[in-house]
Amino acid sequence: MKPVVLAGGSGSRLWPKSRAALPKQFLALTSEQTMLQETLQRLDGSSAANPIVICNDAHRFLVAEQLRQMGGDHGGIILEPVGRNTAPAIALAALHAMQTDDDPVLLVLAADHLIKDSAGFQAAVSKANELAMDGNLVTFGIVPDQAHTGYGYIKGGEAIGVGMKVDEFVEKPDLATAQQYVDSGNYFWNSGMFMFKASVYLAELKKHAPEMYSICEQAIASESKDLDFIRIDPEIFATCPDDSIDYAVMEKTALAAMVPLDAGWSDVGSWSSLWETADNKDEKGNVIVGDAILEGVNNSYINAEERLIAVVGLDDVVVVETKDAVMVANKNKVQDIKNVVNKLKAEQ
Ligand code: GDD
Ligand code: MG
Repeated sequence: MKPVVLAGGSGSRLWPKSRAALPKQFLALTSEQTMLQETLQRLDGSSAANPIVICNDAHRFLVAEQLRQMGGDHGGIILEPVGRNTAPAIALAALHAMQTDDDPVLLVLAADHLIKDSAGFQAAVSKANELAMDGNLVTFGIVPDQAHTGYGYIKGGEAIGVGMKVDEFVEKPDLATAQQYVDSGNYFWNSGMFMFKASVYLAELKKHAPEMYSICEQAIASESKDLDFIRIDPEIFATCPDDSIDYAVMEKTALAAMVPLDAGWSDVGSWSSLWETADNKDEKGNVIVGDAILEGVNNSYINAEERLIAVVGLDDVVVVETKDAVMVANKNKVQDIKNVVNKLKAEQ
């Protein structure tokens, strides 16, 4: 099976650490290794080999250097001249993989997730592999613990082999719908990782998003290799519609299946999720990275890069200090940090 690592996101809710020039997948947020490196490391000991990484052209040296530090072989770094979201990115990787391998099963991974139990993850991957070999588009379902509106929701159906069919896939429902799904007990969150034969994904994309399929096919026909980098024609790819695999394929296909995943998964989408998943909270529930003095502070996340942070008499706060910016937020409002990033972009 061939891993395809999606490393083209922007991670704006983790500002000011995550920047356009250095998005979260390239940062060491949960261990000494970067999120991209953790993603690759997690595959060690499984039958997955030679990952293809697909990322924005602007990040090519970051990716090349982080792969080099890991040692081992990889299957090349596909460079997107512009981001067109995950459906085209996966299509490029699938079309590229078909040229060198004979219709491999692809294990599509996000480059920025935390999974605490690697063995549990690998066990789910080998189950998913069986369903993928049988022609399914396989998702990994997480039992939800809140009505999060940033996730896809999967309704499990009839049992097939080691997993189940998907009766319904709904990407990012509104809050009331998400709450209904969670209350019903019949829905899982989509983890954002997928497994399928390259040919099955491409056939479904061709059926549900024909224009996107045809542009990706032309783009890969134009590919050229430069060291480890695989480049495509920017003018062709610029015309590609922008959409995620979730909307473009998973909501529409009749071939979706699911295996449950219970392996300490988190998509580290915000500072509060880093606080939630941290194993090193002190007795007051604070997570401290770097140099900080806290007085009467509870359940907070403090991250100091260059300077000492002092906080007095506050609960549930996030303070993140970097060389050129300090961000202070209510821990329950950290989703809104992306609005700050949008304001900054508008000022530029
Ligand atoms: N190469 C490439 N190109 N990668 C991309 C692009 C792109 O244009 N856009 C996003 N990515 C990468 C991101 O870096 C991330 O690793 C992954 O693809 C998913 O993209 P997100 O933008 O983070 O998606 P999301 O969080 O809104 O939603 C997805 O993940 C959720 C779980 O975390 C969906 O699959 C949801 O259904 C799912 O619940
Ligand atoms: Mg995400």
